[in-house]
Amino acid sequence: MKVDVVLGLQWGDEGKGKIVDVLARNYPVICRFQGGPNAGHSLQFSGKSFVLHSVPAGVFRKNTVNIIGNGVVLDPIIFQEECQAIAKMGVDPTKNIIISKRAHLILPTHRIMDAASEASLGKTKIGSTLKGIGPTYMDKTGRNGLRVGDVLSKDFKKKFNTLKQRHASYLKQFDFEYDINKNEKEWFKAVEYLKKFKIVDSEYELNSLLKTKKALAEGAQGTMLDVDFGAYPFVTSSSTICAGACTGLGVAPTKIGKVFGVFKAYCTRVGSGPFPTELNDAVGEELRQKGHEFGATTGRPRRTGWLDLPALKFAIMVDGVTDLIMMKADVLDSFDTIKVAVAYKVDGKKTDRYPYEASAKIEPVYKEFKGWKKDLTKCKTAKELPSAFKRYIAFIEKELGVKVSYASVGPDRSQTIRMD
Ligand code: GDP
Ligand code: IMO
Ligand code: MG
Repeated sequence: MKVDVVLGLQWGDEGKGKIVDVLARNYPVICRFQGGPNAGHSLQFSGKSFVLHSVPAGVFRKNTVNIIGNGVVLDPIIFQEECQAIAKMGVDPTKNIIISKRAHLILPTHRIMDAASEASLGKTKIGSTLKGIGPTYMDKTGRNGLRVGDVLSKDFKKKFNTLKQRHASYLKQFDFEYDINKNEKEWFKAVEYLKKFKIVDSEYELNSLLKTKKALAEGAQGTMLDVDFGAYPFVTSSSTICAGACTGLGVAPTKIGKVFGVFKAYCTRVGSGPFPTELNDAVGEELRQKGHEFGATTGRPRRTGWLDLPALKFAIMVDGVTDLIMMKADVLDSFDTIKVAVAYKVDGKKTDRYPYEASAKIEPVYKEFKGWKKDLTKCKTAKELPSAFKRYIAFIEKELGVKVSYASVGPDRSQTIRMD
């Protein structure tokens, strides 16, 4: 059977958590393949809401296996807190989550390194979530990292201390105050908690499950934050694109089935970096307020702007998207006019390509639509949707060359409409 993939096509926070929770009904296996606690995936059902950081969004569905794959970076402290909150919802996470031995561990010193690096950059900072993501992937590719499988080794404490020493040397270059032992005791306690889980060769487990079951891979962040294809250096440190699902889980490209590309009906970005359609005006503020655009992990206000088709086309190309999923259309319910960027002007020349120097002055070329001015949140089927909204979707499908399979019209599991 195949691995279908859910990916964010913009700058993260597209609503991946909600849609994975919805789709998880049809998938017995759900996997995270990259990123870590920089992610904040919100779910809402039966009057309850929940934000997941490292745990796959299938965790609340009965009879699902939730895999934390090798491409993920895991902070034992954050993972324990998250699992304890899940347990309060009546689900025993030790029973339905399995963790790859090859996933890398975020140490307390990785978080210090993240903070020191950001502080040193001043105005040019990345706007990291400060969860230690960049430094942990640096150690992974630099071949110094500690992995989840190491917690089972007798030498674990020794390995930890070696890496901590390395970090202490690295930190000497920064004019930054820190306590090198911060959170260490708590971290080791959380490592003991981690040992309650099945720590496995998840590539074998997953490929064996695929003999009889289909799986859904849940992307974190978004394509425009990918370490290769985002506006470097204003990116995260992992492969957020579809290919990341193969390397982050140990499945072959031929095993990938559908690729669900998730996008908001407008755009947001949190952290620094280029954002061609950003609105620094009252309309942007209206989008932020109506869309409750404040970070699920950090609480930071998200930057807002109109939908950006050149950026979406780029994401669809590198991800091989087969199905689009439009989120948060209801946020635009009260707008008289809605704009969509159909091209850019770069140095006076029109293009529909996302440029290498995205920081260069990009002037979006907009097409205007009349708003539908109807409450979408109560719509249950495609038939009930206003025709102005259907025209908006039809235009986007035509421009992007991919069908919109679902439209989400509210944060709840039930507010999801199948379009085909
Ligand atoms: P993720 O990181 O991609 O999982 O997205 P986040 O959870 O960080 O941000 C999405 C936010 O939008 C969350 O607060 C969701 O509850 C909310 N949300 C998701 N889908 C919809 C929708 O269709 N309409 C509205 N109004 N809110 C939504
Ligand atoms: P989800 O999965 C939105 C952004 C940060 C920063 C950059 C690098 O919820 O969509 P990092 O902590 O990874 O070093 O930060 O990436 N970022 C996200 N933005 N949603 C996320 O995850 C993000 N994870 C990281 O704001 O700009
Ligand atoms: Mg999020």
